[in-house]
Amino acid sequence: MEKKVVRAGIVGSGFAAKFHYDALQRVFSTKVELVGAYSPSSERLQAFTGERSLTAFGSLEELLESCDVLHVCTPPVTHEPIVVEALKRNKHVIVEKPFTGYFGDGSADFNGDTFSREKGLEETLQSISRMLAAEQQSEGVIMYAENWVYAPAIQKEREMLEKTGAQILWMHGEESHSGSHSLAYGQWKLSGGGSMIGKGCHPLSAAIYLKHVEGRARNGKAIRPKTISARTHAITRMPTFQDEGHLRTTYKDIEDFAMLHVVFEDGTIADVFASELVLGGVHNWIEVNTSNHRTICNINPNTAMQAYTPSEAYFKDVYVVEKTETKQGWSSISPDEGWFAGYQHEMDAFYRTAAYGEPVESNSSLAADVIATIYAGYVSAERTGAEVPITIIG
Ligand SMILES: NC(=O)c1ccc[n+]([C@@H]2O[C@H](COP(=O)([O-])OP(=O)(O)OC[C@H]3O[C@@H](n4cnc5c(N)ncnc54)[C@H](O)[C@@H]3O)[C@@H](O)[C@H]2O)c1
Repeated sequence: MEKKVVRAGIVGSGFAAKFHYDALQRVFSTKVELVGAYSPSSERLQAFTGERSLTAFGSLEELLESCDVLHVCTPPVTHEPIVVEALKRNKHVIVEKPFTGYFGDGSADFNGDTFSREKGLEETLQSISRMLAAEQQSEGVIMYAENWVYAPAIQKEREMLEKTGAQILWMHGEESHSGSHSLAYGQWKLSGGGSMIGKGCHPLSAAIYLKHVEGRARNGKAIRPKTISARTHAITRMPTFQDEGHLRTTYKDIEDFAMLHVVFEDGTIADVFASELVLGGVHNWIEVNTSNHRTICNINPNTAMQAYTPSEAYFKDVYVVEKTETKQGWSSISPDEGWFAGYQHEMDAFYRTAAYGEPVESNSSLAADVIATIYAGYVSAERTGAEVPITIIG
């Protein structure tokens, strides 16, 4: 069968735009024609498009006119307006995490440390509803670019759940490292929060996704999250923090540590840690304890390849693994990091949806559950860990 041609456009020209571009080179399900990219910073846009021989568009509107699928690789505060604009034009959207959030009241003195978390939750739920309503009215679909859902380890766990009929009893997982590079990260008005949303969304999405899978496999209906208890801390902003220069410390009004305890509607549980406090590279893992099996999914680091060098000078041109402080000594090399993280798998799946209408695994309902859980988590953290109900939308 002749592969269908699907036209793709990328909004954004930073870190995420780059790995979307790389993953698009490995889409086999269909023929992707990358029409080009748009971002407001023309210098960075020219650098991104120039290096890849892509067209640099002058506006989002022009890019949308020319593509069938829009990749939203921009800061979280821009996700809702861009997604809604694309859906209005009946385009499919691949939107980066976090789906949406609360970014303040627009005032110059908005402070992420002190605003009312209940207001944040309320406004976030409204934002989710607007995005889901836009999808309902559109011929386009939302594809939530949560790569953990497509990571091979998580998809293998999905197969086990479907084939064994297991009940997941308890999951625990983490995403941590030494601090995000994006300049937008660190200011609540741009990022919509700190570690809980920026990092916690990944293992939390995997946990919620696997309960959706379990419910659909056993009863034809996803098992949704019901309540959350959470704590947040800003460790690197404490006057007592001993800064030795290894952790990023420029956060303005966000947390750099979060702990989430989620109870699902069947009474089972998941615990997630997320932080900017961990040395030694990205620490991304989830353990799944079920009624008939147990899996430990090591997304990063893992033991696929281990290497030793007495001096990191030898590895100066060698990519080792995300965010380790040194290449000297032993390293857990990720020989194909994008593969382990699920980037190419998510893109291939999204283009099967765009070209052939395959249902989306990481869909808007999962995105809604994750963000509703996180903002209920911020309410809980404001109440130092009290249990807060999660509103289910969609
Ligand atoms: N899935 C993952 O593993 C992963 C990793 C990193 C980032 N992300 C997500 O990707 C998104 C982008 O993050 P990043 O690290 O690439 O940030 P970045 O700062 O490197 O790049 C952001 C880009 O968006 C552009 N931009 C800003 N405002 C815009 C607007 N209003 N309209 C159009 N373009 C605009 C900027 O010019 C820049 O090119 C975030 O939502 C982030 O959470 C996901």
